[in-house]
Amino acid sequence: MPAPSTLLAPSILSADFTRLKESIEIATKADSDWMHCDIMDGNFVPNITFGPFIVQAVAACTTMIIDTHLMIADPDRYIEDFVKAGSHQITVHQEACPHLHRTIQFIKSLGVKAGVSINPGTPLSTLESVLPDLDLVLLMSVNPGFGGQKFIPSSLGKIAQLHKMRLKVNPKMVIAVDGGITEENAQSVVTAGADALIAGTAFFKSSDPARTAAKIRAMTR
Ligand code: DX5
Ligand code: ZN
Repeated sequence: MPAPSTLLAPSILSADFTRLKESIEIATKADSDWMHCDIMDGNFVPNITFGPFIVQAVAACTTMIIDTHLMIADPDRYIEDFVKAGSHQITVHQEACPHLHRTIQFIKSLGVKAGVSINPGTPLSTLESVLPDLDLVLLMSVNPGFGGQKFIPSSLGKIAQLHKMRLKVNPKMVIAVDGGITEENAQSVVTAGADALIAGTAFFKSSDPARTAAKIRAMTR
């Protein structure tokens, strides 16, 4: 089973981009585990964020694991750029990859961890055949595209189902949950089977991010 304590990954999307370095320092001081970078292309999702150039700037400011979430169409075109920018793990969307197995092998061939994300409307059965190959699954608990959305309650059942699936074929695989995580729902998300929690609003808009981080990291299954 991965992660004796819950991993916390602040999402840089909710940080103050006029003070990017300071925002990363806040995450570092709060003992965060990963820095989550949300890449949106205005095509796979309605919003546009940033590209490898900003990921490189984030990576230059921290020794934390750079966790890159590609919410983009045809991610194969850009994976290498995001690895060169300093990503330690690359997550693509199942919905954006017609050749998912090939894409996962490509990510691994570049020497970084491979993750697959699925939208709330996508069944877990679509991951069955690649599950043994994955380092992580990023289960979306909101529809991707924006920070600050409300956690979709049916995600809890999906996390529990994924937890059962991984125990059979890939117990070391990490389950990360992304979207609408709060201090209030974090425990139920971890109890359902999550190892890593992505938190944008809950972390960066908190009056005391270090305290919020400590609370979330203390959650146990
Ligand atoms: C949503 C992104 C999330 C987002 C989370 O499309 O993938 O990572 O930044 O933000 P909150 O925690 O505010 O829901
Ligand atoms: Zn994300």
